[in-house]
Amino acid sequence: MSTIQLRTSIPGPRSQALMRRRNAAVPQAAYHATPVFIAKGEGAVIEDVDGNRMIDFAGGIGCLNTGHRAPSVVEAIRRQLDRFLHTSVNVLPYESYVSLAERLNALTPGKFAKKTIFFNTGAEATENAIKIARFYTKRPAIISFEDAFHGRTYMAMALTSKTHPYKAGFEPFPGDVYRIPYAYCYRCSYSLQYPSCEVHCAHHIEDTFKRVVAAESVAAVIVEPILGEGGFVTPPREFYPVLAEICRKHGILLIADEVQTGFSRTGATFACERFGLEPDLIAMAKSLGGGLPLAAVTGRAEIMDAPGSGQLGGTFAGNPAACEAALAVLDIIEKENLNARANHLGEMFRKRAAEWQRRWELIGEVRGLGAMQALELVRSRATREPADAETKEVSQYCYEHGLITITAGSYSNVIRLLMPIVITDAQMDEALDVLEAALAAVTEKKSAIPQMA
Ligand SMILES: Cc1ncc(COP(=O)(O)O)c(C=O)c1O
Repeated sequence: MSTIQLRTSIPGPRSQALMRRRNAAVPQAAYHATPVFIAKGEGAVIEDVDGNRMIDFAGGIGCLNTGHRAPSVVEAIRRQLDRFLHTSVNVLPYESYVSLAERLNALTPGKFAKKTIFFNTGAEATENAIKIARFYTKRPAIISFEDAFHGRTYMAMALTSKTHPYKAGFEPFPGDVYRIPYAYCYRCSYSLQYPSCEVHCAHHIEDTFKRVVAAESVAAVIVEPILGEGGFVTPPREFYPVLAEICRKHGILLIADEVQTGFSRTGATFACERFGLEPDLIAMAKSLGGGLPLAAVTGRAEIMDAPGSGQLGGTFAGNPAACEAALAVLDIIEKENLNARANHLGEMFRKRAAEWQRRWELIGEVRGLGAMQALELVRSRATREPADAETKEVSQYCYEHGLITITAGSYSNVIRLLMPIVITDAQMDEALDVLEAALAAVTEKKSAIPQMA
């Protein structure tokens, strides 16, 4: 029996009524990728307020690698509800905060001594990683990448690349942030070809030190191991060794933003492991809390200890229920071997996507690692003109047929997969059937597939 069960057209009448109330009460800036209101979620499946069952390929934008309401996560939160809900760790500490720091210190790449501090959101994690790096190095400048996304607060916006909708109109941003091209081989900023380019983009940072900002002024380079919002762009394996060596040579810290790539998404607990990268600081959030807001910065102990008492933190940072949830998430990753599962899901997708690429000009590139997979859609393979409107159509077709997907990319032409990694093979196949039908409908202008009952 199919998982997707649609009782109404999408959005159904209850979702539509709620959307009318939402439009009157909530500003348009709080965007929704789908016009569907959820009633309940379980694993990789959601049920909406009209009783429609849909497969979730967005997972709360990568926050639900362990699925909606993973039973052990819910149980851990429940146990915490019976003890205490909030103290502010700045006032009264609790054991789960320390246990989670110990676990992350041990789990993150690098065998050196580490320490961890907690926050609430990804933007807070990236902001604080910058605070720590500047404080430790006593240097002002930060280098971030084209197509990067690091959040919506002011420093995070300064680090972020995409202008619309994230930055335009919100200027001015904090200074001393310099942007360099990412290893986006499909749209190389230097018009070179991999591998003959010999990762020129990584080596070119030495030129940036001569022409843009002096190396001795740079506190840190912040990088997403694989771009998230930027379109799941996956650098070639030579990129990070070169970048890391240049940073080391100049005493510049390397910060990995694993907010979207972390917690098994790429087939390793952290994407850095896939590249043999041992960053000085790692920012994380999203799937860490299993659905509750929780973020962390883990890094070399001597760097993390640079700011003094009270210089980092926040009232809610490291909430006790979220820390308990995160401990349960780490157990699931280990016990259910989510890393292997992510690689399996990635292979399932790649097999199907290779066939789609043979069939349809629309699929410009298929890329990713593990379960962090994406399709970049183009109007022509020759010109690589981004197919942004078609991408929107594919996504709309999907939710109208019971699959929630989200898009990405600086040109809004990427379909990205962020399904819970606990999704079953049968659900994954069913979801890919819908995605295939959507691609067929958009490219071949076919009529919609029959509604699944
Ligand atoms: C790589 C990366 N960094 C930072 C953020 C910001 O996280 P948050 O939305 O929790 O502030 C995101 C969010 O999508 C992200 O993908």
